[in-house]
Amino acid sequence: MNYPYQIKTREAYDKAYKQSVEDPESFWANIAETFTWQKKWDKVLTWNFKDPDIKWFEGGKLNITENCLDRHLEKSGNKPAIIWESNDPEEHHRILTYKELHFKVVQFSNVLKNNGVKKGDRVCIYMGMIPELAIATLACARIGAIHSVIFGGFSAQAIADRLDDAQSEFIITCDGAYRGAKDIPLKSVIDDALIGNKSIKRVIVCTRTRTPVSMIKGRDVWWEDEIKKVETHGNPDCPAEVMDAEDILFILYTSGSTGKPKGVVHSTAGYMVWANYTFVNVFQYQPGQVHFCTADIGWITGHSYIIYGPLSAGGTTLMFEGVPTWPDAGRFWEIVDTYKVNILYTAPTAIRSLMGFGLEYLKNKDLSSLKVLGTVGEPINEEAWHWYDKNIGKGNCPIVDTWWQTETGGIMISNIANVTEGIPSFATLPLPGVQPCLVDENGVEIEGNKVNGNLCIKAPWPGIIRSTYRDHERCRQTYFSTYPDKYFTGDGCMRDADGNYRITGRVDDVLNVSGHRIGTAEVENAINMHAGVIESAVVGYPHDIKGQGIYAYVIHDGSHGDPNLTRQDILQTVARIIGPIAKPDKIQFVPGLPKTRSGKIMRRILRKIAEGDTGNLGDTSTLLDPSLVDIIKESRI
Ligand code: WTA
Repeated sequence: MNYPYQIKTREAYDKAYKQSVEDPESFWANIAETFTWQKKWDKVLTWNFKDPDIKWFEGGKLNITENCLDRHLEKSGNKPAIIWESNDPEEHHRILTYKELHFKVVQFSNVLKNNGVKKGDRVCIYMGMIPELAIATLACARIGAIHSVIFGGFSAQAIADRLDDAQSEFIITCDGAYRGAKDIPLKSVIDDALIGNKSIKRVIVCTRTRTPVSMIKGRDVWWEDEIKKVETHGNPDCPAEVMDAEDILFILYTSGSTGKPKGVVHSTAGYMVWANYTFVNVFQYQPGQVHFCTADIGWITGHSYIIYGPLSAGGTTLMFEGVPTWPDAGRFWEIVDTYKVNILYTAPTAIRSLMGFGLEYLKNKDLSSLKVLGTVGEPINEEAWHWYDKNIGKGNCPIVDTWWQTETGGIMISNIANVTEGIPSFATLPLPGVQPCLVDENGVEIEGNKVNGNLCIKAPWPGIIRSTYRDHERCRQTYFSTYPDKYFTGDGCMRDADGNYRITGRVDDVLNVSGHRIGTAEVENAINMHAGVIESAVVGYPHDIKGQGIYAYVIHDGSHGDPNLTRQDILQTVARIIGPIAKPDKIQFVPGLPKTRSGKIMRRILRKIAEGDTGNLGDTSTLLDPSLVDIIKESRI
């Protein structure tokens, strides 16, 4: 495959950027032309941010799997599409060529149909990182079902909420999943999520760990048995469903500053073009290269840069089941060496954690195949950037620091490997199609350079969020109402003298823990579920490895004596309600929370105390009970 829209020089970037702003319709039409359409679009773009109502390639008909699979069969059918590396280094890896992947996706599409899944149905996918996860996802897309992948670390309660919100009737899961030394009983978590549930019609269970599972008659079926049925009686083909450009491709739940996680809705054509365009350009992907994105498919990074970006480009994507530190901290480097990985895309938290293990694990690992390194998910500190550059890239690989969000579908602000300059801890420049701006608290745009503000985007790009599932008003309120006619990212940002962007972190009540988004309100709600807890307030604090840690201030009625046991109980409650990823790192019991006279918690003060910056807490005179602050300061942990 060649990529006529791949930007190769700084001049070409400037030209593409200019055109994308001045004439977005012809800019994106030219790119979209290179994809496979069942019918061309009538109109490239119509939009307003007021409702919001955004349509890309309206009237166009397509199926994303024809772009990710069928169109590569003739020339690249025998090329590896997915290289899968097991959690267990001793277990044999699997390679699926484009032909094989196509075959398996078609086969599983027929399984879905046999089980009653129809176009538009929501299918929840809760699996470990095995090729069947990619197959299930693509099979949904093939028949026009909407996939909602849920990260394997979420609890039964979190799954139940998502099933309910998406009104899903189908689940695809595994008996269990391996993650390092752990064996996670996925099916049993699903069973817990389904207690009392009457709407789920079918649970398809793929075998991985052979953990004993309960299979409920009439509801639960084995993946392998269902495949046998289509093998013997089925049609070996499954034509790709005709989808409108704006039909929903998937829902992905993400945390915000209020309420429960919301289902971010992405559409078919715009998302496809954006995932592909950003993949091909930012990483400067060349045919034949091996791309290793270490994210889990349960997050947007996995959707866009393990599945849809690389496969739509006919690339080879490496999927890793395990964790970076098991059996030892050399796992990534061994994978790079074994498969001659060319592009490594990971999170700052992983880099910081591996950095802590020292250079010993790099010994005898040949990393010379690496051409491009990438980071995503949180700001990267300079120390980690330099370590990555020196020890992994050996000073020869550009590092692309890619800023984006679940809601943006793909990378928004990033340097382009070997084309535009990388600067440690800067995402640098917007990609073509992205018009960032900084605004002050009043929404007034801050012009010029060397300025700080809240990061907004002024115009739609193809991968922009279309809605929040079944609650469009929430989408409008969350993203399009804070600043009229702008998409608000929730991030703070600095623009330097040369116009480079540096993300400074969230300005709302959303934490970024190890690159995972967690709403403080969500954690508070979970803590408050625990018996004896009267009230709580959660803030972030700087954490050496995770980027941000979770600090919880809890008012407890003192029952059950031993505070350490109560802490453990609270952690258990949070793990049950959300999942282990949301467990607070620190829990401080307090007699009260600092509130204004109108009852608002002064988080600014709690944040400062959690950060250890107790010297100057600013004006506390507006507090209902200023003396509380001293008590909280003294009992800080
Ligand atoms: C943060 C992940 C600094 C940011 C793709 C954003 C980053 C949130 C970067 C989205 C980066 C992501 N530098 N911060 N390169 N990339 N972020 O939805 O706060 O899981 O709003 O999407 O992560 O997280 P999400």
